[in-house]
Amino acid sequence: MNHESSQSVNQAITPSINQPDTRTDRSFDAIADHFEKKVYGGLKGDIRLAVLRRDIFAYCTQMREIIGRPLRILDVGAGLAQIAIELAIQGHELIINDISSNMLEKAQANAAQCGESNQDNAKLAINWYVCPYQELEEKLASNTEKFDLIMCHALLEWLAEPVAVMDFFNQHLTENGALSLCFYNPASFDYRNLIMGNFNLLDNTEYKADNKKSLTPNHPVAKEEVESWLEAHHYQTILASGLRVFHDYSPLKRGGHNDPEAVIRMELRYSQLEPYKWLGRYLHILATRQA
Ligand SMILES: C[S@@+](CC[C@H](N)C(=O)[O-])C[C@H]1O[C@@H](n2cnc3c(N)ncnc32)[C@H](O)[C@@H]1O
Repeated sequence: MNHESSQSVNQAITPSINQPDTRTDRSFDAIADHFEKKVYGGLKGDIRLAVLRRDIFAYCTQMREIIGRPLRILDVGAGLAQIAIELAIQGHELIINDISSNMLEKAQANAAQCGESNQDNAKLAINWYVCPYQELEEKLASNTEKFDLIMCHALLEWLAEPVAVMDFFNQHLTENGALSLCFYNPASFDYRNLIMGNFNLLDNTEYKADNKKSLTPNHPVAKEEVESWLEAHHYQTILASGLRVFHDYSPLKRGGHNDPEAVIRMELRYSQLEPYKWLGRYLHILATRQA
């Protein structure tokens, strides 16, 4: 078992006394270009976006009909904010946040570009906040501001104190609001290294991706731990999907692997099927506190 997945729940929440925890939230300011190219420059990113679009857009369309108005949506640690911008194009009200100004500059350029090809450009309702999500409360128009949907995608694993974000959600979600939580799945690290024969990495309990540019998080949170947080905060999961349940595991690109559209079609299908979805490189959980 690797270092990350063997981390106990208590270890993750309470730093050890013998080893002072020097973790800090990780701003992507220095790696914005690298992130854009590596994560969203190819099929990997297309799969990630395809699964998130399917899960989130269907929910928002349904909720909009139920509540009879566009949704108020917050995206924390939004990065390039592709999904948030598309939701704004669909007419929803967005608050987009990231600690990194470089990331949000890219997102703003993307929003402007999308807006140019969209006749309703002038009507895009997006407010941008460059700050740690922890400072949003004091910056929002009203610190009791509530949202119908909060998106938190690939942020948990980069936070010094990930569980603290649950209190923030509690405070800022409406009573019927939903949480779209997407996070790196540490089980996928083990499984991929098993397939690739990187047993040395799995045997090395001290292993950390120490390259400053690495996009493999050193502090991922296991699915069981996230589920325990959701349960403790009285959330019910309405949907759980796996993102990239087979694409990253296949060293041999043969047959259907040579057809990107077919790969996305299969990823979408298996992203929702047991047991495959639990091996996704990322997991997406949509949860609500609704009775
Ligand atoms: C892996 S990226 C994910 C970006 C985007 N949500 C996505 O799924 O593509 C993590 C983002 O979280 C941001 N971040 C890290 N700590 C943060 C904090 N405390 N508050 C807000 N954003 C933060 C980073 O700057 C980075 O843009």
